[in-house]
Amino acid sequence: MNLQELIAQLPKAELHMHIEGSLEPELMLQLANRNGIALPYQSVEEIKQAYQFSNLQDFLDIYYQGAGVLVKEQDFYDLTMAYVKKCHQDNVVHTEIFFDPQTHTERNISFETVINGITRALADGETKFGITSHVIMCFLRHLSEEQALKTLEMSLPFKQLIKGVGLDSSELGHPPEKFQRVFAEAINAGYEAVAHAGEEGDPSYIWGALDLLSVSRVDHGVRSIEDPKLVDRLVKEQIPLTVCPLSNLKLKVFNDLKDHCLKKLLDKGVVVTINSDDPAYFGGYVSQNYLETAEALELQAEDIKLIAKNSFKASFISDDLKLKWYEAIDNIN
Ligand code: HPA
Ligand code: ZN
Repeated sequence: MNLQELIAQLPKAELHMHIEGSLEPELMLQLANRNGIALPYQSVEEIKQAYQFSNLQDFLDIYYQGAGVLVKEQDFYDLTMAYVKKCHQDNVVHTEIFFDPQTHTERNISFETVINGITRALADGETKFGITSHVIMCFLRHLSEEQALKTLEMSLPFKQLIKGVGLDSSELGHPPEKFQRVFAEAINAGYEAVAHAGEEGDPSYIWGALDLLSVSRVDHGVRSIEDPKLVDRLVKEQIPLTVCPLSNLKLKVFNDLKDHCLKKLLDKGVVVTINSDDPAYFGGYVSQNYLETAEALELQAEDIKLIAKNSFKASFISDDLKLKWYEAIDNIN
């Protein structure tokens, strides 16, 4: 079996995917038309041309603009259903997706509209394809903690639909300590906690996510490689990293996929996973991320199977289900 076949056959979980980042140019244009929203682009080609980024902020500016076409519950449903179909194609059997409520509530779209559209599509995805899922709401770190606290409060009536909280958007200058109170309150309310850290920010952002926000896994976390004590801690406590190789390449966290630290972290014993982050913007869904990473870093079949197992290990599914997926992976030769 070649690598591509192995990757296709392996059941996988995705743990780092922003649903707004799965908005493909075709659907963006369609929703802009449907909702009478003006975009600075006339065609799919023009949209794709605009996707040239030098850093995280370049991307975020275009990503928030794109999300502006999402208005009605059906828009969030269509967006999420398109992603679920990609999961089915890629043999992603479980997904834990992020959404950014503040990107929408700031435009006077209700929390209810957003969460109902997303979760209705996920429920249909489970019925149709057997794909299980959780939803994680992210606070935008460029906004204030007070606004995050308001968002947390807004989420409470929908708590049974939401597994956890996360932290995304512009990292530099918005360290974890800014959100210490809101994470404590979220955990107290019964939410799981994750956070983006160590994508552009130095290792202190990862220490902060662990010590001040009490996260159980770290999104990106690739800059941990610069701090051996931190890597030791990630290994000792088996704190997973949700790594997004094509995102890191597009946002110039690494200049070449061959320079990516994923294999080094894996060899040191870190629970590394592979995810797509914002697949419509970064050039590939989960299997494409596995494939390009495997080729660039010369991963072996055993590495790829370990990464697939890690994706379940790092997820919020039950231990019984984890065992079921480990066994399914072991049975692929
Ligand atoms: N980093 C920070 N914020 C984000 C990202 C990311 O990779 N994707 C969507 N929002
Ligand atoms: Zn992300």
